[in-house]
Amino acid sequence: MKVTVIGSGNLGSSIIKGLASSDMFDPKDIIVADKSKENLNNIQQEAGVTVTENNLEAIAQSRMIILSVQPRILPVVMNEIKDHLKEDQVVISTITGVSISEINEYIPSNKVIRAMPNTAAVKQASMSFICANELEDEDTIFVEKMFTTIGKAIRIEERLMQAATVLGASGTAFFLRFLRAMTQGGVQMGFHPHEAQSIAAQVAIGAAALIEDGTHAEVEVDNVTTPQGCTIEGLNAMEHNGLTSSVIKGIMAAYRRISNIQ
Ligand SMILES: NC(=O)c1ccc[n+]([C@@H]2O[C@H](COP(=O)([O-])OP(=O)(O)OC[C@H]3O[C@@H](n4cnc5c(N)ncnc54)[C@H](OP(=O)(O)O)[C@@H]3O)[C@@H](O)[C@H]2O)c1
Repeated sequence: MKVTVIGSGNLGSSIIKGLASSDMFDPKDIIVADKSKENLNNIQQEAGVTVTENNLEAIAQSRMIILSVQPRILPVVMNEIKDHLKEDQVVISTITGVSISEINEYIPSNKVIRAMPNTAAVKQASMSFICANELEDEDTIFVEKMFTTIGKAIRIEERLMQAATVLGASGTAFFLRFLRAMTQGGVQMGFHPHEAQSIAAQVAIGAAALIEDGTHAEVEVDNVTTPQGCTIEGLNAMEHNGLTSSVIKGIMAAYRRISNIQ
């Protein structure tokens, strides 16, 4: 089975590398098209995929076509490919803020599925969201399976796609910024920066593992907070400085922004 990816930038290359190291695809059966020769050379060397600068040549080879170009480039790509797609070809868009119906305006006869992974796809640790007009359709289920090879994937209604983008894709940056703050605290207490970062990362992985089975996060917080101990002292100081409120405000600011992107 082959899959075509148009756009091998930040997100596209993460998806491609993740898929190339999965059991689902032989790397050479991943056909990558891009206008950037540099990106194509890099992805060919790093993932062993088939590359081309020609979008039409790329789409001719697969039934599933993943689009991972910037929103402003979408009209360019759609106008280029729309008259060359066969009716059974499925377009999977990772493009932020562009609805299924907007893409269907170019290709009314083709199935359009939206996928919102994040850049951890490269480590097969993405949180990906899949939406389509028909969530139980076999192609939608197949796409969910495909994104499961690069992390966790769930099918959601399209109305939740903007929220999914903020929580799942922007969320990577939010957590990394928190991790940097933890690192800076660690350095101030005496660790070297690389040690502090590695400690903060492992603590984050461990904290996530503790709630993987659905345990409420505050149950695990209680397990760490001895009465009158250092953890509650630290937590309360963070809350007096607005930690929870600041994170929610940041998430809602991102949500307002994405809801207004034209
Ligand atoms: N980064 C994320 O975490 C993330 C997460 C979720 C969704 N997204 C979405 O994913 C999409 C891609 O984002 P990105 O950050 O990966 O963008 P990017 O780094 O700019 O990559 C886009 C690639 O597409 C190439 N390109 C431009 N015009 C093209 C054309 N006509 N045909 C084929 N390729 C073309 C670009 O080449 P040039 O550089 O030469 O222009 C570039 O290599 C965006 O729509 C974004 O909203 C990103």
